[in-house]
Amino acid sequence: DILKLDMLVNTLENEHELDKNSLAELLECKDVPILYTAADRVRKKFVGDDVYLRGLIEFSNFCCRTCFYCGLRAANSGIKRYRMEPGEVIECAANAVKYGLKTIVLQSGEDKFFTVNDLCKIVDKIKDMGTAVTLSVGELSRNDYTALKHAGADRYLLRIETSNEKLYESLHPRMSYKNRVRCLYDLKELGYETGTGCLIGLPGQTPEMLAEDLLFFKKIDADMIGMGPFIPCKGTPLEYEAEGNVETVLKMMALARLLMPDINMPVTTALGVKADDGYRKGLGCGANVIMPNMGIDDYKKLYAIYPGKGDKVETLENQINVIKCLISKEGRVVGKHFGGRIRTVKI
Ligand code: 5AD
Repeated sequence: DILKLDMLVNTLENEHELDKNSLAELLECKDVPILYTAADRVRKKFVGDDVYLRGLIEFSNFCCRTCFYCGLRAANSGIKRYRMEPGEVIECAANAVKYGLKTIVLQSGEDKFFTVNDLCKIVDKIKDMGTAVTLSVGELSRNDYTALKHAGADRYLLRIETSNEKLYESLHPRMSYKNRVRCLYDLKELGYETGTGCLIGLPGQTPEMLAEDLLFFKKIDADMIGMGPFIPCKGTPLEYEAEGNVETVLKMMALARLLMPDINMPVTTALGVKADDGYRKGLGCGANVIMPNMGIDDYKKLYAIYPGKGDKVETLENQINVIKCLISKEGRVVGKHFGGRIRTVKI
């Protein structure tokens, strides 16, 4: 069995391919340090020791969707809603730039209050600061994605959440799996660096489904992959379900790095919340991106996708310092460039 494990990890490290059943098998292994060390080697070889910092601004927690797992779902009346003024968003971005961050990530619930035109103006202003801009505002029409691209947006994050159509549709009332996939292909075609990812440990999710998630990421040629444990959240239909397993998240990250050696992969806040030392562990399993929250303190705890997030709000300076310390302690360096995906593997 150890021999077989060795063989599978070897294949992954050398060929960056593996079939679904073998991936599922690896996901079911208990503790797999050789998987982590292989992912760490591949990370070093293909994207180096740089860790890129992206300044996250969660500018609105209003959402018209009713995803079963998410605390921001429209039907959750238990949270206070907020919306930043465009001027506040710009100010946060300027602050992030002051701390040396080279990418601004604008994220929100699907808040139809902001028109695409509003968003275009904000993107345009932030682009003038000389940063890369990533958007994460959900499903839009191809036209809207086009307008935002023209306004200067460089990248887009839209997790598929699960690539299992049945599971997807059982967790997302009145949404369709096909439209989500359409969004991802539109984003790719329009020239966005496109990020996706999944939740790990959703009720009903099997190792085979997780293996398929990885193969889906590879198939659509995702440029970035963000994955974190499912964390049950009060005020949602999944409130009393079990949470996702941290080791499974680390294995998924390692497998993503091995399958897609030159992608960007963050350590997610959800992993940081659930694992002791989550950021350090993530960095050791293939991650090369950290996303410090550069928003407004009072709003951070209101962006309550899941519990635990925003429990310890630190000053921006502290937050960045802690991250920089961790990076150097792990023998890594803070990336000085935009940190876009640089293709080093032929497809
Ligand atoms: N636990 C973990 N992650 C969650 N997200 C939403 N709700 C939860 C939860 N309860 C993730 C989704 C979404 C991202 C912004 O947050 O994957 O894409």
